[in-house]
Amino acid sequence: MSDLPQPAHDHVLDLDLDLDQKASLVAGASTWSSRGIEDFVPALTLSDGPHGLRRQMTGGDNLGIGSSVPAVCFPPAVGLAATWNPDLVERVGREIGREARALDVQVVLGPGMNIKRSPLGGRNFEYFSEDPHVTGSLAAAMVRGIQSMHVAATPKHFAVNNQENDRMRVSATVGDRALREIYLAAFEHVVREAGPWALMSAYNRVNGEFASESRRLLTEILRDEWGFDGLVVSDWGAVYDHVSAVAAGLDLEMPPSGNTPRIVQAVLDGDLDERVLDVAISRLRTLAARTTGLPAMERDIPAAESVALDAAREAVTLLENDGVLPLAHDQRVLVVGEFARTPRFQGGGSSRVVPTRTVSALDALRELSGSTVSFAPGFTLHGDSDAALAEEAVTAASDADVVVLFLGLSDRAESEGFDRTTLALPSDQLELLARLKSVSAPLVIVLSNGSTVELSSWRDGVGAIVEGWLLGQEGGRAIAEVLLGDTNPSGRLTETIPHRLEDTPSHLNFPGLDGEAIYGEDVFVGYRGYDTRGTEVAYPFGHGLSYTTFAYESMEVTATGENTWDVRIGVHNAGDRVGSEVVQLYVAAQASGVARPSHELRDFRKVRLSPGERSNIAFEVTARDLSHWNAREQRWQIEPGDYRIEIGASSRDIRVSADVHSAGDRVVLPLRLDSTLEEWAAHPLGADIVARMRAGIPAEIADSAPELAAMVLSTPVIKLATWGLGITEELVRGVVAQSGGDA
Ligand code: GLC
Repeated sequence: MSDLPQPAHDHVLDLDLDLDQKASLVAGASTWSSRGIEDFVPALTLSDGPHGLRRQMTGGDNLGIGSSVPAVCFPPAVGLAATWNPDLVERVGREIGREARALDVQVVLGPGMNIKRSPLGGRNFEYFSEDPHVTGSLAAAMVRGIQSMHVAATPKHFAVNNQENDRMRVSATVGDRALREIYLAAFEHVVREAGPWALMSAYNRVNGEFASESRRLLTEILRDEWGFDGLVVSDWGAVYDHVSAVAAGLDLEMPPSGNTPRIVQAVLDGDLDERVLDVAISRLRTLAARTTGLPAMERDIPAAESVALDAAREAVTLLENDGVLPLAHDQRVLVVGEFARTPRFQGGGSSRVVPTRTVSALDALRELSGSTVSFAPGFTLHGDSDAALAEEAVTAASDADVVVLFLGLSDRAESEGFDRTTLALPSDQLELLARLKSVSAPLVIVLSNGSTVELSSWRDGVGAIVEGWLLGQEGGRAIAEVLLGDTNPSGRLTETIPHRLEDTPSHLNFPGLDGEAIYGEDVFVGYRGYDTRGTEVAYPFGHGLSYTTFAYESMEVTATGENTWDVRIGVHNAGDRVGSEVVQLYVAAQASGVARPSHELRDFRKVRLSPGERSNIAFEVTARDLSHWNAREQRWQIEPGDYRIEIGASSRDIRVSADVHSAGDRVVLPLRLDSTLEEWAAHPLGADIVARMRAGIPAEIADSAPELAAMVLSTPVIKLATWGLGITEELVRGVVAQSGGDA
């Protein structure tokens, strides 16, 4: 019994249950509920999703096929992220939590927060960013919002679930640095900053081990290191070996797969410590205590719809504008594109919400504009070319002062369950675009897409490009307000838009082959790759235009402690309209012993300013902001040297910067039997020995072949025992032992 994984942390209760009862509680009772035992633990209802409630009162499927109770559909994460506004995202979380309470749901299965490793990812619409700091900050806000209503949030999918292709089996082969700095970092931020009451383990393997059965992930890192005290629930159908999953730290298998007898037998055979069940059950009871026994709560759909509209307004991202926007209210506008009439406002799959209503951009434009707004569908949503529709649109364009063309991706082009294979928009849409360019009226493009599309091949000759992403049910009004200038756009990109798919850092390794996805780009994901390699992009991470302009001034950096600095920056609205700016803080290590991105986002603030108004924004740069993950020493390390603190409006628009110096945080670690001569020279116990040895090498040899020195320095000292340099194996073992290493 001693080599069994010992239950960690939780206070192990002396549960008044028999073994069958205990085994029944670590699996669900149905698609959407955990099991209840009278007078012990109530059954809990779990429900998607990340951007609105998908409450199925009868039956149940996790594929997004069956219907559900109408609920307010907020912008999916791709849209929420574009707001760069944690307070707003928290408001969205509160409304989702309120609806969950009203519909007797105790656990909301969101936010989805995996990193967008490739723009082809089928669920990118459901995730926040290519950057872990943006992801972690906004996901934490969502968790705070949902849980403020005493409903559990469930950050997902833990971890390294960055593709849909072969998602239930694929193994993500990822280096330890990329794992820590990119793929776990946002989850760590959420656990430490927002304290989620639940968390969902992913389908895929990580370095060969199923995430839902990984003790390293679910117990050693998540609980031992980060202090997570909630319940881990599997993704639906993710568990292969329930016994090993429970032992690893998975508390609830969903939906139930009938493994209870196997759990019982494993305990009886001594293969599973019954106390592991006790711990999982205690976590289920803690979750129930946090989310049940509360007063009933009424839904407030108008309030939720208002929050959804606010979120959509701040998500709209203006990529390009030659002055054609905002439209004058008296212009004759031709709207082209089925997306204007039939909005695509969310993604496909388990997150699908039945909205309480939808607002089309066409209807909103007609309501808000003071002039004629005509319409031509131009194409069908599913890409079957229709020459008559195209011809009708081109003909109508000649009578318009301006043409607003809505383009985008349909549910068949991107969804949970599969990844895209191209960044291109459908060919029939591009053909229509080319024909409309030949008409005299200026052209405005509005995009509806859950993940980035290629636009470099067609953007020349276009007056403006509005990236509308997926904006939830109220998105049509938000788009109309931005086009007419009633709302000043403030969205910013949380993912780079590349010129070409081939430029993406993960291109040669996505989505992998024969069950393995090799994360060969390592930490160089998104702008970390493009900016470090100097790859030109269509629009950089953090980019977004406004109808006003902002000036950055008077940066002040003050050391406040060892490896902490106070950073102040003045920003002012230099234009004539109220607007919001997203001020971004990046840190760039100026010299490093390891390959590091040219810079990394470490903080951001969104500020709303009136014309001429100034704001002094304060940031704090911390030791962690300078750190990289030292895989050999298994810790966050600050290297000694200079670091540039950059303040910018995007990753490619740095306005001001200042350098700071850090002495680093070198920790003297034990030597190992395979420690090299270079490592001995840098170690207090090894330095003198190396110096004496070097002194014993005749100068003509030492100076004759400098490349020899490089080879010798990278040689484990124990290998030098046979070189007659006075180094013996006994001496090496003695020094290693003295340093605290295993000799
Ligand atoms: C799905 C998704 C997950 C969802 C769950 C329940 O397969 O991966 O995000 O919450 O099953 O629908």
